Amino acid sequence: MEPGPGHLEDALRRLEKAVETMQLGVTITDIAGKIVYTNSAEARIHGYTVDELVGKDVSVFCLPGYRRSLGSQQVRRMKSWRRESMNVRKDGTLLPVALMSDVVLDARDQPIGVVTTCEDLTEAKRAEAERERLQVRIQQSQKLESLAVLAGGVAYDFNNVLTSILGHASLVLSELPPQASHVLDKVAEIQSGALRLAQLTDQLLAFSGHGRYKTEPVNVNDIVKELIHLIEVSQGRHVRLQYELGSDLPVIVADPVQLRQVFRHLVTNASEAIGEDEGVITIRTGTKWASREYLATTYLGDDAPQGEYVFLEVEDTGCGMDPATRAKIFDPFFTTKFTGHGRGLGLAAVMGIVRGHGGVIRVDSVPDQGTCVLTLFPARPAFVRRPAGVDQTVGR
Ligand SMILES: Nc1ncnc2c1ncn2[C@@H]1O[C@H](COP(=O)(O)OP(=O)(O)OP(=O)(O)O)[C@@H](O)[C@H]1O
Ligand SMILES: [Mg+2]
Repeated sequence: MEPGPGHLEDALRRLEKAVETMQLGVTITDIAGKIVYTNSAEARIHGYTVDELVGKDVSVFCLPGYRRSLGSQQVRRMKSWRRESMNVRKDGTLLPVALMSDVVLDARDQPIGVVTTCEDLTEAKRAEAERERLQVRIQQSQKLESLAVLAGGVAYDFNNVLTSILGHASLVLSELPPQASHVLDKVAEIQSGALRLAQLTDQLLAFSGHGRYKTEPVNVNDIVKELIHLIEVSQGRHVRLQYELGSDLPVIVADPVQLRQVFRHLVTNASEAIGEDEGVITIRTGTKWASREYLATTYLGDDAPQGEYVFLEVEDTGCGMDPATRAKIFDPFFTTKFTGHGRGLGLAAVMGIVRGHGGVIRVDSVPDQGTCVLTLFPARPAFVRRPAGVDQTVGR
């Protein structure tokens, strides 16, 4: 028995219901590109209601100025085609989509329209970008880890030899008679060369995380205040120093000698970035509640617990950095400075010291506008206060 019109209607209704429940957008156009049917997923993805779309030209989904990429003549020749594209929502925002179109034929094999499925790729693209970002971070931290092992090994051996050179040089100096002044000068040269090398070795050791640490409760403001005078006399008149020091800072458990190093390296970099131009260096301290999401934007933040941190920040209006430079700033011996004493060890040491204190670093920089380097140190547990209303699970 032939199915009657009732059966056909039933079948069509079931089909429509199935298409309606699909997550994929589905649009059917006539051969001229006019929308004759669209499901609610398609409408939702693009920010419309179904009624707003039916009867419109399918180019409503295209970027302004673009019409459908295929004319009706081409559609007649094609059977099906797929592509990735950028569509436009009703509010003008863009969305990446994967489209698959098939020509609909009538009983005489004549094309009468096109059915297109549309997958919203926004989430897939975001996840892909996140994966790539994570990959880069993992590679970078692995690179720094192996460099730290290498630097630590070299610095350890250097230190042993240097200790012996310095010890013997001072023995010779103390035993030489005063009339042997020509030899004294040379031994003093050996001694000062070895001391310079010892300073570099110390920075390598700091980078490797094997620097000498003597921790005590420290107020970061005290570190800044102790060095203010030294910093001010070493800046030219063209550099203005600004201080924004937070009040009631909780103490952190830190080695003040190492913290001073961090501060000095950051201020030196800021001052060198300003160079001979006029500029401002702003030094800030304070407390900051760092969520997981925030820590994910920092260096060393992957393993750091969310919580309260004390920050020390140095911002300059200097030359800034391009992304290629930023990617290498913590590598030991990476420097863009051709004059002066740049050895490319300042930020490597900062990284090692901050890591040794369980802290994190964040760098924001815009070429020709300036740089802001923020170091965060965990506040002492006894002082950790969680601000009201902050969800501990945020970002997990
Ligand atoms: N505040 C900043 N503004 C612009 N570029 C910076 C800044 N801080 C660091 N950099 C870039 O990062 C590089 C590495 O910095 P780092 O402090 O490790 O070494 P350096 O300053 O070149 O030498 P050293 O610190 O050993 O004297 C610099 O050469 C510079 O290109
Ligand atoms: Mg430096």
